[in-house]
Amino acid sequence: MLDGKRILLIVAGGVAAYKSLILVRRLRERGVSVRSVLTAGGAEFVTPLSLAALTEDKVYRDLFSLTDESEMGHIRLSREADLVVVAPATADLMAKMAAGLADDLASTALLATDKPVLIAPAMNVEMWGHAATQANIALLERRGVLRVGPGAGDLACGETGSGRMAEPEEIVVAIENALAGRASGALGVSASGALAGKRAVVTSGPTWEPIDPVRYIANRSSGKQGHAVAAALARHGAEVTLVTGPTHEPDPANVGMCRIETAREMLDACMAALPADIAVCAAAVADWRVREAAGEKLKKENGGLPALELAENPDILHRLANLENRRPPLVVGFAAETGNVVAYAREKRRRKGCDWILANDVSPGTGTFGGERNTIHLIDEEDRVEHWPTAGKAEVAERLALRIAGRFAAA
Ligand code: C5P
Repeated sequence: MLDGKRILLIVAGGVAAYKSLILVRRLRERGVSVRSVLTAGGAEFVTPLSLAALTEDKVYRDLFSLTDESEMGHIRLSREADLVVVAPATADLMAKMAAGLADDLASTALLATDKPVLIAPAMNVEMWGHAATQANIALLERRGVLRVGPGAGDLACGETGSGRMAEPEEIVVAIENALAGRASGALGVSASGALAGKRAVVTSGPTWEPIDPVRYIANRSSGKQGHAVAAALARHGAEVTLVTGPTHEPDPANVGMCRIETAREMLDACMAALPADIAVCAAAVADWRVREAAGEKLKKENGGLPALELAENPDILHRLANLENRRPPLVVGFAAETGNVVAYAREKRRRKGCDWILANDVSPGTGTFGGERNTIHLIDEEDRVEHWPTAGKAEVAERLALRIAGRFAAA
């Protein structure tokens, strides 16, 4: 989707500038050529050498550089890209943009460009909330400048609140949307607000089914995808309950945690979290449990092998999707498949009665099995398929959150 696109990335001075280096990596992985402008403030936080190495290109810094201007004037620099991205966008640079100032290379390129501009603001919570900044943002948005974030949470300055730069994965999705012309809707809204007022329940991780007081049946689910979905929905403003089996994942910011062990506990916790507008079932629920878990530790010395009689666990996704009164308006499930991915996922969507299925291709050829990356095919309520590019789990989560926000905006 992004292959062959050209981005002019302007890196201004803020602690979040280190995330722009990760953004460059993510864009380069997708075949995007990135040309960078580093402001004097930006160079206090990341070095020109890091940016040059990651972009595999020269870094432009000086408006009055004879070599730069003869090789590539600032006008050409700002026009040769398909999109101009400012990350981090500081309060100062946004004020310059609003006022039309052009006293350095970054502000001059922004004034000279005829291409769409996407900003990822990052600053202290008071600076973000200041009437001057808010007036500048409103003015820039009226002029068609696109924005992603900022999100809420712990800020690098030690305070808490709005002002944290969008994560690199969110910015990648915003760039895709901007280039695809989907600039209104989900992207036009701040990443922190599109799902405000919506309640979501998300399941994640494995379940543990006891055999006796010390042993259990489990699976290798890491909980990474489910936790990332909960985090992304919360970043977009949803009130999220994360019902999770045991994992090593940190608790996502601004998410209500509900820790369970067994499938039946997971079902009870999901029911207790209703009513909800959105349910996303990403847990790897154990299909079976031991019918009667032993009250005492099973002893080897008793001789023979214990026969474990199994019973089927409740299918939580199926239950939520088929509730008569309190069915969440949007129920989403996952499906790991190897081959015939779309056909099996369509069948699973019908069988479970959910609205969307995110089918995850785990065939060995994709390299996703057990890895950090996912190749998703979304089957929607009309049985249509969207093929998503291979991406990290955080990016899949962000894309899903934007897709959900879009669906509620359209409703
Ligand atoms: O049936 P299968 O395990 O392939 O379906 C996967 C989807 O169903 C996932 O969304 C998973 O979270 C959900 N599921 C569930 N409860 C179960 C089994 C699966 O919620 N007992």
